[in-house]
Amino acid sequence: MKKEAEEKLKAEELRRARAAADIPIIWILGGPGCGKGTQCAKIVEKYGFTHLSSGDLLRNEVASGSDKGRQLQAVMASGGLVSNDEVLSLLNDAIARAKGSSKGFLIDGYPRQKNQGVEFEARIAPADLALYFECSEDTMVQRIMARAAASSVKRDDDNEKTIRARLLTFKQNTNAILELYEPKTLTINAERDVDDIFLEVVQAIDCVLKKKQQNAAAQC
Ligand code: AP5
Ligand code: MG
Repeated sequence: MKKEAEEKLKAEELRRARAAADIPIIWILGGPGCGKGTQCAKIVEKYGFTHLSSGDLLRNEVASGSDKGRQLQAVMASGGLVSNDEVLSLLNDAIARAKGSSKGFLIDGYPRQKNQGVEFEARIAPADLALYFECSEDTMVQRIMARAAASSVKRDDDNEKTIRARLLTFKQNTNAILELYEPKTLTINAERDVDDIFLEVVQAIDCVLKKKQQNAAAQC
């Protein structure tokens, strides 16, 4: 029975992978506060893509008040990483819900470990592009502190101690991701004005869309 259930799950995952394969999947990488969410909002506005932030999906689970949510909250408050099974399962479900109507997926805050990328591509679909927003620690801390000061609803992890732990987690894992996915990663200087950064983002996404159109035409 267990084997049967596992087979069914694999078949479903494969079906999802195929369904998701012909629309762009873009990973959005970068440290805490570098501007991932800000750029994703602009991409959604221009391209109508589906924005899936791993952090937002986890915070929704926490807000539900479930036992699982309480466990997730503890990990997030420590600045560490939640288990990939949890994150990938939330992403997989969200992709499956949106795939019929989606024009493309922005996977914001994922992968945060090399293995997360490997599992995503094996279980869901290959990513077409990874955008890495490079930013100094000082700038990231300043941006998070400014966001926390301006926001009426402060995030639990936007305090100095947790920010330092989030930065450490980021530093420990990011080089390995960048090395593995170098061929499909564009590093963007995120120290600039939001709109200047976005110009580079647009060029990269237009290039992906053009390649997909050419591939589709070649198959006709
Ligand atoms: P997550 O929610 O993803 O947090 P984060 O990565 O720490 O990043 P933030 O959301 O704080 O910042 P951002 O880069 O989106 O910046 P924003 O655009 O808001 O993850 C939270 C936690 O969940 C993790 O610590 C972990 O525990 C867990 N988690 C998440 N994903 C996981 C995974 N894959 N595996 C395991 N665990 C996971 O910008 C910040 C501020 O700066 C804003 O006020 C904005 O207006 C401003 N700003 C943005 N760009 C600019 C600019 N160019 N110039 C000036 N200001 C700017
Ligand atoms: Mg964010």
